[in-house]
Amino acid sequence: MKQVGKINIGVLASGSGTNLQAIIDAAEAGRIDAEVRVVISDVAKAYALARARKAGIPAVFVERNMFSSRREFEGAITAVLNEHGVELVCLAGFMRIIGKALLDAFPNRIINIHPALLPSFPGLHAQKQALEHGVKIAGCTVHVVDVETDHGPIISQAAVEVKEGDTPDTLADRILREEHRIYPEAIQLFAHGRLRIEGRRVYITNHESRNGGFE
Ligand code: GAR
Repeated sequence: MKQVGKINIGVLASGSGTNLQAIIDAAEAGRIDAEVRVVISDVAKAYALARARKAGIPAVFVERNMFSSRREFEGAITAVLNEHGVELVCLAGFMRIIGKALLDAFPNRIINIHPALLPSFPGLHAQKQALEHGVKIAGCTVHVVDVETDHGPIISQAAVEVKEGDTPDTLADRILREEHRIYPEAIQLFAHGRLRIEGRRVYITNHESRNGGFE
């Protein structure tokens, strides 16, 4: 049963799941009006699944190789999300391109966190790309997912200074700390219905809409 006043989230993760943990912790502490209803991974051994189980959240492995097309794979993921009453899908280190099937099932209801100040450095190894480009300011972005990878309307961003001697790992660690802050904040804005999308712009409104989600 959906708790009154809370939005039901499904998290998709392929890796260690520190962003997932930040969301779980924020939800448990009452800092966001959201409940993680299910965690899905395409990687059987992803630590994100263990984190979910530890928190008493259903953890589901959906194996890509079991399906002959992305559409079918996403159909299976959609079925799990629907089974758990998910209203907002949060990608948290989910290392697969999102296709039309999932986008159509959750229009404007899939958000992603990316470890770069988009539109710079989309795709893999964003922190390494940033260092190799020589930027002085790196960061992270929460955005609405659309058909293009790491591309949709931007909800929020945080900047992180690049330090001399930074490696991709040290930079990634500092960016992650900001990710763990801005992702729950963005979820809270969504839960309170304070986001309005117009084209590429996401406006943060002062009034709350009753149903949560994008206006
Ligand atoms: C995070 O840095 C996230 O921004 C990134 O993967 C990491 C997952 O860490 N996502 C992408 O690069 C997606 N394009 P986590 O599993 O500890 O949350």
